[in-house]
Amino acid sequence: MLTPNPPPTCVSSIIGTGSYMPEKILTNDDLSKFVETSDEWITSRTGIRERRIAADDQATSDLAAEAARRAMTAAGVQPEEIDLIVIATVTPDMLFPSTACFVQKKIGANNAVCFDISAACSGFLYALQIARHFLNAGTRTTALVIGAEKLSTLINWRDRNTCVLFGDGAGAVVIRAVEPGVAAPGRVLSTVMGSDGTLTDVLKVPGGGSACPITSDNIASRPNTIHMEGRETFKHAVTRMCQASEQALAAAGLTKADIDMVIPHQANARIISAIADRLGLPMEKTFMNLDKYGNTSAATIPVALDEAHRQGKIKRGDVVLLVAFGGGFTWASSVVRW
Ligand code: ACO
Repeated sequence: MLTPNPPPTCVSSIIGTGSYMPEKILTNDDLSKFVETSDEWITSRTGIRERRIAADDQATSDLAAEAARRAMTAAGVQPEEIDLIVIATVTPDMLFPSTACFVQKKIGANNAVCFDISAACSGFLYALQIARHFLNAGTRTTALVIGAEKLSTLINWRDRNTCVLFGDGAGAVVIRAVEPGVAAPGRVLSTVMGSDGTLTDVLKVPGGGSACPITSDNIASRPNTIHMEGRETFKHAVTRMCQASEQALAAAGLTKADIDMVIPHQANARIISAIADRLGLPMEKTFMNLDKYGNTSAATIPVALDEAHRQGKIKRGDVVLLVAFGGGFTWASSVVRW
């Protein structure tokens, strides 16, 4: 039988953001040298102009650790103050230990409990909600929530349907439990999440897990890379992100008119403009950086949040709507009073 949740003892506030993008840039023209595509096709269909590719000796935890250091510096928090690390990733360093444990070691956050979660492109908002539950319940005080991906390791560079879309990168936030009634910027007002496991086949990496281990017999068909039905994904992404946005606003007691900035998952500029259109928002209220980075899955939202903050595009007191959609399918939305 379900027992009622105790009332929250705290609220969660984002007190610092950070991001790290690898140095190497792969442009659309670079891609057109080894796959049949063009800058014109990629830009007009997706809005993506270039993406970052991590070095061979950079693992996901290296990208995540650097984003985490920058978020901790912004928050003025020391590593030993962090008591929870949740990393959203579909490209962990290894199947185990968790990437969060590798990050713990790299940043010296010796007092943290560490684990990863898997929700593809919605992963960061799932992780934010999980961390928020720990903080609001009063069982943890200061959390690092990270979205980090080395998606270049999951790409079939001969598949033009997918290889043009993705990139590597990491973003992080430090969130802290604050007593209710205490004024604090970056307050997470609401989060909603959803999943539809009947659509697992539409967007997936079929091989490399227990269902289809990689063998010398199947490796030639590249089951260890991203397989996606693009149009189907596109359709569900727009519908679910609009629904989730409306639900998160309602849960926060706000309406579309209250939104100052939307930070959507950065998959495709056409998806983002469809969402802005349905929410009745001008594109100036919609943050986009996918032209520089492509789709970095769980990293897109924390990276965009960090850039929007550092560029002064979101100011204290603004209502910021975060919304994501990804493989599973999964979707989520959060409202933050910046
Ligand atoms: N260059 C040139 N032509 C291409 C390329 C390319 N890179 N890729 C596909 N094409 C061709 C196709 O082969 C097809 O040719 P055909 O008509 O001769 O068969 C034609 O372009 C049109 O293909 P579509 O797939 O219909 O193109 P569409 O306009 O749907 O755009 C895209 C494809 C960009 C993938 C789009 O569907 C999309 O963005 N989907 C959503 C992706 C997404 O949001 N993913 C998010 C989740 S990712 C995650 O969770 C990890």
